[in-house]
Amino acid sequence: MIIAVDGPAASGKGTIAKALARHYKLPHLDTGLLYRAVAATVLDQALDPEAEADAVASCDFDEALLADDRLKDDLIGKTASIVSAHPLVRAALLQRQKRFAAQPGGAVLDGRDIGTVIAPNAVAKLFVKATPMIRAQRRHAELRGRGSNASFDRVLADIRARDERDSTRSQAPLKAAEDAVVLDTSFLSIEASIQRAVGIVDAAV
Ligand code: C5P
Repeated sequence: MIIAVDGPAASGKGTIAKALARHYKLPHLDTGLLYRAVAATVLDQALDPEAEADAVASCDFDEALLADDRLKDDLIGKTASIVSAHPLVRAALLQRQKRFAAQPGGAVLDGRDIGTVIAPNAVAKLFVKATPMIRAQRRHAELRGRGSNASFDRVLADIRARDERDSTRSQAPLKAAEDAVVLDTSFLSIEASIQRAVGIVDAAV
């Protein structure tokens, strides 16, 4: 049983994917962390994220990095969106994600291209979305909570820029798989979003 959860930044997909993994007792992979680890390695080594060769060299990142809280930083998210547009970076991380999805018993994966590229055969596909304003409000509150004084306008502009980059790249752009169920969390609480997601998966299996 593979559950694919895709969607833009701050849509709620990560929270929903974690809750689904708990509910169905499945292992969970946040695939954004892989791209964030590549981005952190590029930054640590003062490499150029726009240069494909530099980004590819960073795909061999230290595993311990995946558990590092600093991967949540906005600069790393932004850089992840740059390195993830390189076809060779996506190719370098592909097998690892496919292996995770193929484990016996199944798995929950969340990202941008799970339902379209990593696990097109997933039994349930969700595309989680919310308006850019609402996503910016969530991200702004989260950043404030972590002590950042980023302005709301800055956060909104970053969200729009990331959407634009993630949806217009040629390789595995952010888009709902044709057989995905769209879940709009704009006006739903976390609990209500999770309840809807479980309902969608139950109906698919
Ligand atoms: O989901 P998260 O914000 O952690 O992802 C960081 C960046 O990594 C995204 O903006 C996107 O460009 C990239 N990404 C991707 N494919 C995935 C997961 C993330 O391209 N499956």
